[in-house]
Amino acid sequence: MKAKVFAPVNLALIKYWGKKNTELRIPANSNLSICLNKLGTRTEVEFKKELKNDEVIIDDKEVIGRDRDRVVNHLNKIRKVANKNLKARVVSKNNFPKKAGLSSSASGFAALTLAGTKAIGLNLNKKDLSRLARMGSGSACRSIDDGWVEWLAGDSDKNSYGKSIFSKDYWEIRILVVVLSQKEKRVSSTDGHAVANTSPFFKTRLNNVNKRLKDLKEAINQKDFSKFGELIEDDCLSMHSVMLTSKPNLVYWLPETVRVMRSVQSWRENGLESYFTVNTGQNVFVVCKPGNEDELADKLSQLKGVIEVRRDGIGKGARLV
Ligand code: DP6
Repeated sequence: MKAKVFAPVNLALIKYWGKKNTELRIPANSNLSICLNKLGTRTEVEFKKELKNDEVIIDDKEVIGRDRDRVVNHLNKIRKVANKNLKARVVSKNNFPKKAGLSSSASGFAALTLAGTKAIGLNLNKKDLSRLARMGSGSACRSIDDGWVEWLAGDSDKNSYGKSIFSKDYWEIRILVVVLSQKEKRVSSTDGHAVANTSPFFKTRLNNVNKRLKDLKEAINQKDFSKFGELIEDDCLSMHSVMLTSKPNLVYWLPETVRVMRSVQSWRENGLESYFTVNTGQNVFVVCKPGNEDELADKLSQLKGVIEVRRDGIGKGARLV
């Protein structure tokens, strides 16, 4: 009763921020992401009769407290679907710094969902896996299916899930992951979502995010990179406007984050085209066409405060290894 899985990090192009239903993790708006090819989480789950309690090891450390509770709650959901009561040992490893705005909860819960269901003997389809992953962490529902994934917000557990709209090979976009600090963020995404509706800008965001999603899908359809880039920057800044004006306010950026954002914009004005997006953390994702990747990676690495630039592309969803 054992399974090993790799699940990718996904990068939100139109963000999920705020929930219609907190318990079921139904997002305030439909959103869209790409699965990354290299960044992700490898998880092994084994259910064993001999275990008295669940054991959870993440990045070589036994986890306790809130992090452990979240994993155990998810295992409980899997046990409920399978109607089995065995305890599990979960060993999980991220190939990137976790809890720093690089979406470790997305890859982590997608991997746990696929590994846990396989290990316990379930064989769920992608839609049901995505729905279940969503219960662990909303964004995890976009790391099950491949390539470009839309999370259809829906309004219930049944109709809220991630679905691929294009395969990983549809359009080659490169992603530069700019690591500025490996420090864990102070306010988790879950706590951030909970205060989204205290921002006076939240309503405004919800009024125009659907149009932006529609426009983005059109830009992707037409492979119009400039339009695509403008829209993802707009959406990132729209989400951060909500964060900055929530109660309590959430400032996830460091001075170095802003330096990368401004540099990307000024290089662009001078003909080197790329666009940024930032999640709940200090680190920045920069997207570009393959031809500009080397020059951008080089320039980004030379900026003050940049620890590392990881190069990535678009990849498949969660899979057994
Ligand atoms: C800013 O999926 O981590 O990365 O559902 O509470 O676990 P929970 O939140 P989470 O939120 C991700 C927020 C985001 C935007 C996104 O990935 O769409």
